[in-house]
Amino acid sequence: MTLRSIVGLAGNLTSPSRTRVLVEAVLEAVQRRVDASTGLIDLSTVGPVLLSAPTRDALARAGEVLLSRIEAADLLVVGTPVYRASYTGALKHVFDLLHKDSLAGKPAILAATGGSALHGLVTEHQLRPLLTFFNAHTVPTSLYATEADFTAYRIANAALARRIERAADEAAALLTMTGGTRSLDAAVFADREASGAQHGSA
Ligand SMILES: Cc1cc2nc3c(=O)[nH]c(=O)nc-3n(C[C@H](O)[C@H](O)[C@H](O)COP(=O)(O)O)c2cc1C
Repeated sequence: MTLRSIVGLAGNLTSPSRTRVLVEAVLEAVQRRVDASTGLIDLSTVGPVLLSAPTRDALARAGEVLLSRIEAADLLVVGTPVYRASYTGALKHVFDLLHKDSLAGKPAILAATGGSALHGLVTEHQLRPLLTFFNAHTVPTSLYATEADFTAYRIANAALARRIERAADEAAALLTMTGGTRSLDAAVFADREASGAQHGSA
């Protein structure tokens, strides 16, 4: 059986980052349940590569490799800091570069960090609709953390740690049900490409 691939996408633009810490904790929790390789795409590091082009065609090879890793993943963990009540513009640009059919059926865990609890539903009214546009299967439990949930960039809130385990349980169950989505997605995507489907809104 092929080793599954779990990719974390952290939309923070600076480092150190609580968002990155949260995404890494989720990756570790899933990896305790599923035989998988994990990788993290941290926009504070690779942002310049992905933000350098307005369209995928104009992207350098290194950027294309990153997008392909996202599209080939069996499970995505998508995390963002809240910027002006939403995900970061940089994270949105990455999603704008992805092929619109490339995440269909892919399980995804949503995570965000913010400066205040007031934006705790950003996963529900910003991130979840974005992933739903791509027809990804987002797990019901999403994660939100503020500065008070961390000590020295380590998770220090037991309730948050339990939610991470619950989200990982849900994702592992979805992965078992779907058996991984890579081959199915690749086939569907190849069909649509062959029939000349254009990228754009669904
Ligand atoms: C440009 C900018 C806009 C922000 N807007 C919000 C906001 O609307 N709501 C909020 O709760 N926090 C906001 N914050 C705070 C960050 O979301 C918070 O500090 C986050 O945990 C930072 O994540 P990071 O450590 O991964 O960079 C903002 C921070 C920046 C830099």
